[in-house]
Amino acid sequence: MFFPDYRARRLRQSENFRRMIRETTLSVDDLILPLFSVGGKGVKNPIPSMPGHFQLSVDKIVKEAIVARDLGIPAVMLFGIPDKKDALATSAYAKNGIVQKTVRALKDKVKDLAVITDVCLCEYTDHGHCGVVQDGIINNDATLDLLARTALSHAQAGADMVAPSDMMDGRVAEIRDALDENGFESVPIMSYAAKYCSAFYYPFRQAVESAPKFGDRRTYQMDPANSLEAIREVTMDVEEGADIIMIKPARAYLDIICRVREEIDLPVAAYNVSGEFAMIKAADKLGWLDGSKVMMESLIAIKRAGADIILTYFAKEAAKKLRQD
Ligand code: PBG
Repeated sequence: MFFPDYRARRLRQSENFRRMIRETTLSVDDLILPLFSVGGKGVKNPIPSMPGHFQLSVDKIVKEAIVARDLGIPAVMLFGIPDKKDALATSAYAKNGIVQKTVRALKDKVKDLAVITDVCLCEYTDHGHCGVVQDGIINNDATLDLLARTALSHAQAGADMVAPSDMMDGRVAEIRDALDENGFESVPIMSYAAKYCSAFYYPFRQAVESAPKFGDRRTYQMDPANSLEAIREVTMDVEEGADIIMIKPARAYLDIICRVREEIDLPVAAYNVSGEFAMIKAADKLGWLDGSKVMMESLIAIKRAGADIILTYFAKEAAKKLRQD
């Protein structure tokens, strides 16, 4: 393919040609909208670093979910901000915990919308870690039972899918067993399989008040320098029964998405996280770039890398843009 026999520009000269040879498409079907649920009524607390996102009480979250559904978004991912936190994250698996209440309301009031729940302890522990702390160390095996109880309580409330984000070893198998033993064998698990210890989670931790009170998450979340390890993490979760594999964050980890896509035949999800959203919003506000165009380019890049599903705070905006176009 040498010039002048081959001219790359021949197929770029019209929008119709460009449409015909486009290799990747983005659809509203690919998007999942994360939502933050808090106690009270009529509550809509803005999250400063995530413009357009709020801590929402159950009544407000129902409204927001209807908006998402009407835009064609197939699913929401729920996070909870509990009234009280303690060492063992008891609000995470309480029958009337914030996520459990929200799931029941959504399943009751919003038809045709899949409700996925984030399964983790960090929003519910007073120390802010994703597991049980013993002598200053995050105890893996002592955490598994609490994660399984949390996932089960979400399924009992009516969750359509559960998504463990804690990064403890062995949690997918433990959750699968707990679901199966209780008659929830058809509830799928989307595992945050390769979740990196990333500074891009900063706005999220402000949003749900979950920053660790001591230390950091480096003993359980992955080192950003590693990619072979991502394959081991993913393989482990596949073998334990995960139905969808998630990579997180997305934009700075496109190589990982690409590699995992080649290694496995399960659906691959990517989490376009809070910091990735905040950076684009901030630059747009400063007039330093066109936020809407960068949003669409970012989302298509995540698809091109190999993701089938994108969890993104841009879900509503992107859905509107796709509809216009
Ligand atoms: C909980 C969890 C985190 C995110 C999703 N689930 C934060 C963390 O690990 O501290 C981050 C999401 C985002 O930044 O958008 N473990």
